[in-house]
Amino acid sequence: MFKAIRRRFSKSNDAPAKRIEQGNLPVHVAIIMDGNGRWARRRGLPRIAGHHAGMHKVRDVIRACDDIGIQCLTLYAFSTENWKRPESEVEYLMKLPEEFFRTEIDELVSRGVRVNFIGDTSKLPSFTQETVRRTLEKTVHNTGMQVTFALNYGGRSDIVSAAQSISGRVNAGELNWSEVTESVFSNYLSTADTPDPDLMIRTSGEVRLSNFMLWQAAYSEFWFTDVLWPDFGRAQLEEAIADYQRRKRRFGGLK
Ligand code: FPP
Repeated sequence: MFKAIRRRFSKSNDAPAKRIEQGNLPVHVAIIMDGNGRWARRRGLPRIAGHHAGMHKVRDVIRACDDIGIQCLTLYAFSTENWKRPESEVEYLMKLPEEFFRTEIDELVSRGVRVNFIGDTSKLPSFTQETVRRTLEKTVHNTGMQVTFALNYGGRSDIVSAAQSISGRVNAGELNWSEVTESVFSNYLSTADTPDPDLMIRTSGEVRLSNFMLWQAAYSEFWFTDVLWPDFGRAQLEEAIADYQRRKRRFGGLK
């Protein structure tokens, strides 16, 4: 499905930079959006101001990816570990999807973006779940870029859930253990319908995965930048993609 889809039209006047070759684009870009708190602190602002600025960058990066011709974008918006943050910050983060989709849904729909969510959304506050439900409903038939928000997502939990589902089917006699190959296992992950990320970006100078797409990132190309997420934009995205295009991916082989 993702091989054939290409950008059909663009709402933005920003043409992709010349340094990006159209023939060798990553199909799936995943981003660990980090550094909102430090961005705010450097400006003497509360942490939530950093998250709000970060939300605007989500919009800019979706536009840029769509303009460039990226087919899947996954954004790590809230991890299973982020509940450990102060209650007021968690509360604010839970309100951001509502604000974001209220202001952005029309453009997303006009671009043909299909929005998807991974993570245990059943544990989110009811108003956030309602935003998730409405957004899915409004974009389910779109056939353009897929944008996935990882909300209450953890890579380990994704793997454990897959193992539980498989065990359930094996116990019910619907599946034989000997049939559980890597590709069968992948079909039980929350990302079953999405190719593995080709390019994984993390902002803010941290160089770790933080429980994001542990299985799916097995052969991702990583690109790290010191730029804080609220300062990240089209220029950095293009730099990451251009760097990806210079790499040789061998997937453990020799070519
Ligand atoms: C990590 O930075 C960032 C987050 C935990 C939240 C990311 C959320 C957004 C960018 C907005 C999401 C928008 C939508 C529409 C859901 P940090 O707070 O850990 O930064 P720090 O390491 O500098 O403290």
